[in-house]
Amino acid sequence: MPAILEADGLVKKYGEHVAVDDISFAVEEGEVFGLLGPNGAGKTTTISMLTGVLEPTAGTARIGGHDLRTEPTEVKRINGLVPQDLALYPTLSARANLQFFGRIYGLKGRDLRERVDDVLEVVALTERANEPIEKYSGGMKRRVNIAAGLVHQPRLLFLDEPTVGVDPQSRNHIFESVMKLNRERRMSIIYTSHYMEEVELLCTRAAIVDEGRIIALDTIRNLIARLGGGVIQMGLERLDDEMLAAMRALPAVTAVTIVTPQPAATAVAAAAAAAVTGEAAVAGEDRPTDAKPAGPVVKIETRRSQDALVQVVGYLNERDVGFTSIEIFEPNLESVFLHLTGKKLRE
Ligand SMILES: Nc1ncnc2c1ncn2[C@@H]1O[C@H](COP(=O)(O)OP(=O)(O)OP(=O)(O)O)[C@@H](O)[C@H]1O
Ligand SMILES: [Mg+2]
Repeated sequence: MPAILEADGLVKKYGEHVAVDDISFAVEEGEVFGLLGPNGAGKTTTISMLTGVLEPTAGTARIGGHDLRTEPTEVKRINGLVPQDLALYPTLSARANLQFFGRIYGLKGRDLRERVDDVLEVVALTERANEPIEKYSGGMKRRVNIAAGLVHQPRLLFLDEPTVGVDPQSRNHIFESVMKLNRERRMSIIYTSHYMEEVELLCTRAAIVDEGRIIALDTIRNLIARLGGGVIQMGLERLDDEMLAAMRALPAVTAVTIVTPQPAATAVAAAAAAAVTGEAAVAGEDRPTDAKPAGPVVKIETRRSQDALVQVVGYLNERDVGFTSIEIFEPNLESVFLHLTGKKLRE
């Protein structure tokens, strides 16, 4: 698969401050590539350099085989940019705004009309296209912003945090537009976000950016696999040291820790006494007094949660120990990010 983009050693300095510190990566034609990082990581600065908005302090990129520095006109034709901040005329209709952007790219007459109709359709705003956009919700304005980046039929679309401050309905429209553009028109897309779920849903690969550098770049699946295999939390009828040791020895299990110990006999007795006298006992306060007290709960760290689950349940069956609850926590990009940087993506 040929690369639509190859960034090579991009650097951006603001005085002494290095906003982007030697970033290199490639995006394949037809790929949805994620740039993921916290506030100030350098995502927008990277995109601005790749789209000719900012001049790199060092490094360059090839886009569709053209050099960013020496062939800016060709690069501009290939790139579509949807900036983080809206750039629209509030008193004009969506249609008029889009016609304005189309003319910048030299479109006119019937071509322009057809292109504008098409992109309105892509962002699902055809029906309200003639209203001034100051009457639109934040999410609808964002969709017009996306349409503006599409009028000239770019091969590579840069979306800079397109869902920030957007209502859920518009968010879904944006997801659908991204998937459609990629699948039906084979558009390559670079998608920046703080939202892990979005990157997991939309992107094939992602670069995790922190403090101006790429600290990990891989398929979503491989990024997540680095963390290991997920955690199973399980409530058991009973638990003893021998069971703990046996579960720890299972091949797909890496660790077993006790979250809630075996309930103390006194607490159970107090709850039972309260049921008789009608008084609330501390131990039984937040559950009906006739409910069974909760058993011990263990946290099982695994190499692969599915395998571990089969082995643990098999062992418990053998020992004739029932379980009262099972929760499985699969690792996600959020936990990968936390693991790599020690930080949360959104504070
Ligand atoms: N014009 C500028 N002058 C000086 N510093 C800047 C300028 N623009 C950005 N920076 C700094 O460069 C760094 C990277 O900023 P950038 O906007 O690229 O981050 P980002 O990853 O897009 O963050 P966010 O998620 O908040 O949009 C930050 O430390 C920021 O303060
Ligand atoms: Mg930004």
